[in-house]
Amino acid sequence: MADVSKNEKKTYYITTPIYYPSGNMHIGHSYTTVAADAEARYRRLKGYDVMFLTGTDEHGQKIQRKAEEKGVTPKEYVDEIVANTKALWKLMNVTNDQFIRTTDDFHIKAVQKIFKRLYDQGDIYKSEYEGWYCTPCESFWTETQLVDGKCPDCGRPVERTREECYYFRLSKYQQRIIDHIESHPDFIQPVSRKNEMLNNFLRPGLEDLCVSRTSFDWGIPVTFDEKHVVYVWVDALSNYITALGYASEDDSRFKKYWPAQVHLVGKEIVRFHTIIWPALLMALDLPLPEQVYGHGWLLIDGGKMSKSKGNVVDPRILCAKYGCDAIRYFLLREVPFGSDGVFTNEALIGRINADLANDLGNLVSRSVSMQLKYFGGVQSAEKTFADIDNEISRLFREIYDNVQVQMDALQFPSALVEIWRGVSRLNKFIDETAPWVLAKSADTDPAAKARLAGVMYTLLEGIRIVSVLIEPFMPETPAKIREQLGILGKDELTVWESASKWGVYPDGTEVKKGEALFPRIDPAKELEELEKLSAAQKADAAAGKPEEKKNADEAAKAEDGANLITIDDFAKVHMKVARVLEAGRVEGSDKLLILKLDAGGEIRQVVSGIAKQYSPEEMKDKKVILITNLKPAVLRGVTSEGMILAATKGKKLVLVTVDGDIPEGADIS
Ligand code: ME8
Ligand code: MG
Repeated sequence: MADVSKNEKKTYYITTPIYYPSGNMHIGHSYTTVAADAEARYRRLKGYDVMFLTGTDEHGQKIQRKAEEKGVTPKEYVDEIVANTKALWKLMNVTNDQFIRTTDDFHIKAVQKIFKRLYDQGDIYKSEYEGWYCTPCESFWTETQLVDGKCPDCGRPVERTREECYYFRLSKYQQRIIDHIESHPDFIQPVSRKNEMLNNFLRPGLEDLCVSRTSFDWGIPVTFDEKHVVYVWVDALSNYITALGYASEDDSRFKKYWPAQVHLVGKEIVRFHTIIWPALLMALDLPLPEQVYGHGWLLIDGGKMSKSKGNVVDPRILCAKYGCDAIRYFLLREVPFGSDGVFTNEALIGRINADLANDLGNLVSRSVSMQLKYFGGVQSAEKTFADIDNEISRLFREIYDNVQVQMDALQFPSALVEIWRGVSRLNKFIDETAPWVLAKSADTDPAAKARLAGVMYTLLEGIRIVSVLIEPFMPETPAKIREQLGILGKDELTVWESASKWGVYPDGTEVKKGEALFPRIDPAKELEELEKLSAAQKADAAAGKPEEKKNADEAAKAEDGANLITIDDFAKVHMKVARVLEAGRVEGSDKLLILKLDAGGEIRQVVSGIAKQYSPEEMKDKKVILITNLKPAVLRGVTSEGMILAATKGKKLVLVTVDGDIPEGADIS
C-alpha cells in the first residue's frame, strides 16, 4: 500500500476573531482579516492545506437592544449586517475558507453540548453573580480589575449586577495555563503580551467566570435550565472548533485541522484567547492552539494634525478609489505588526505614491518600455552579464529566504520591506547600468547590444520574482505585472518556489505595454477630496444614524486617547550621551544633585532630583542621557542647563543610560 501520510499536505489552520455585527465597518476592522488573509495565501502558495476561518459573533444584549431600537428581530438585524460583512471581505479579496455565524444551527447545537458536558463533569456550576459589567464590551469585571471605577478596556462606566448564573471553574486551570505559557514560548506573541497576561492576570489569581445570563434572551439557551442563555465567551470562543464540526456527527475536519496554528486577534482580546480559551480546551481535554498573536490597533483620526482634516475610513470607499491592493498594502506595510499605528489620509497617499506608483509601478513600466524600444519587446538570447547582475541575483535569493522567515513569524511589514529592497535595488540598477547609453552603441557594437540584453534580462527576472513575492499581500497586481512581462499563466515562472530561482525567464518571451499599475495621485487635490468625503460622512453621523454616530464618537475618543506625536514633534527634543565629570549636593536640598556633564566637548551644568537614590561619588563617570535643548531653569539658586533622564516607579528611581560603550556627545534619536 502506498504511504498516504507522505502525500498528505501539512495543514495550516488560521482564524480571525468572529466580528460583532457592525453596520459601519471601518478600515480598522479590515486589519485582522487582511493580515490573516495574507498569511493564508502565503501558506497556500507554500503548499499547505489551509483552513482560514472568519465569521460573526451575533449574540448578546447589545445586539438585542439595537434590534429593538430598529423594531426588528435580532436575527433580522444581524442578517443584513452579516451580508454586508461578507461582501466587504469579498471586495477586499479575503479568501476565508469558511464563514461561521454563531447563529448557525450546528454552532448552537455544539455549544449546548459543550456547556452540558462541562456542567456534567463539574467544570460549570450554578451560583450567583455579583460584580461589575461593561455593556459595550460585554465584559464582567471584579472590583479590583476596574480602573478608576471604570471598565479597564474601554474606560466607560460599568453597572453593578447581581443575578443567578452558571460559573466556569476558571480558577482550577490557573496553574496549568501558567505552566503552558511558560513552557511554550511561542504560545503568546508578541512576547510583551505574554508578560502582560502572566503578570496582570494569571499570577494575581483567576476567579471563576460567569458563563450564563438570565437578563436577556438573545443567546444560546442552556438546555437544562431554560432561564439561562450561554453567555459570550463560551459561545464565541467555541466557534474555532464548532466550525470544524466538533461535537457534531461529522468531526473529520476537526480531526484534520485542530489544533489551530494561530488565532490572530487584536490586543484587547488576547486575554480571552490565552486564558479563558485554554481553560475551556483543557476542560474539554483538547489540545491548545499553537499560537495566539495579538496585533495592535489602527488608530483612526489619531494625532492632532488630522483633527481639522478628517479621514475617510470606509474601506469600500478607499478600495473603490485606490484599488484594494493598495489598501491591503498600506494596512500591512505601514505599522509594525504588533504595535499600534495611526491611519491618516496623508500616510495612505504617501505610501501609494512612493512605494507603489514610484518604486514598483515605474520599475515595471520603465523596464517594459525599454524592452520594447530596444528589442521590439522580445528577450534576446544574445546576452551578457556582469558582476552587478550576479550581485542582484544573490540579493533576490536572500530576499526570498528573508520573506519566508518574516511570513513564518507573521511579520508582514518586515516581509514587505524585504521585497521592496529588491524593488529599490532594481531601480538603482537602471541608473547604474544606464541602458539608454548602451542603446546608443548597440546598433554598431554587438558587445554593447549583448550587455543591454543582459541588463533587460536582470530587470525582467527581478520583476518576475517580485510579482511572486507580493502575491500574499496584493492579489490583483501580480497578474497585471505578469501580463506585461508576457508570462501570465506560466506556472513554472509564477509559483511560489519559482521566486527562489534566478534565470528562468525564457529568452524569446515578449513583453506587452500595460496600464500604469498604480497611477500617481496628486496629494493636494486628493486630500481635499478625501476631506470632503469625510465631512459628508461626519454630517451623516451627526444627523443621527445611531451606528455611525457611535463610530464617530469612538473615533473621537480614539483621537483623544491616542495622544500621539509625530516624528517631527519627537525630533524637536535633542538628546545626547553625556559623561558625569563632577557631582555634588545642592546646599539646603536632600533631593538635588548638581552635575557637571561632558556632552562631547561641551560642558553643561545640570541640577537633578536624584540625590536620594544616587550619591555624588556614585555618579562620577556615569554615562547619562541629557536633553540638550531644554530652556535653562534655576533650581535653589543654581542654573540647570538641561535635564537627564531617569525611570521612576513609586519611590524607585534609576537613571537611564546607554547599553554599551559609546563616546559622550553621541546623538540619541
Ligand atoms: O472582539 N484596529 O469582535 P470585534 C485594529 N466578537 N484592529 C481592530 C480595530 C482597529 N481600529 N477595530 C477592530 C470581538 N479591530 C469579539 C471577538 S473572538 C472569539 C470574539 C479588530 O468586532 C479587533 O481587534 O470587536 C478584533 O481582532 C477584530 O477587529 C474583531 O473585533
Ligand atoms: Mg472589540
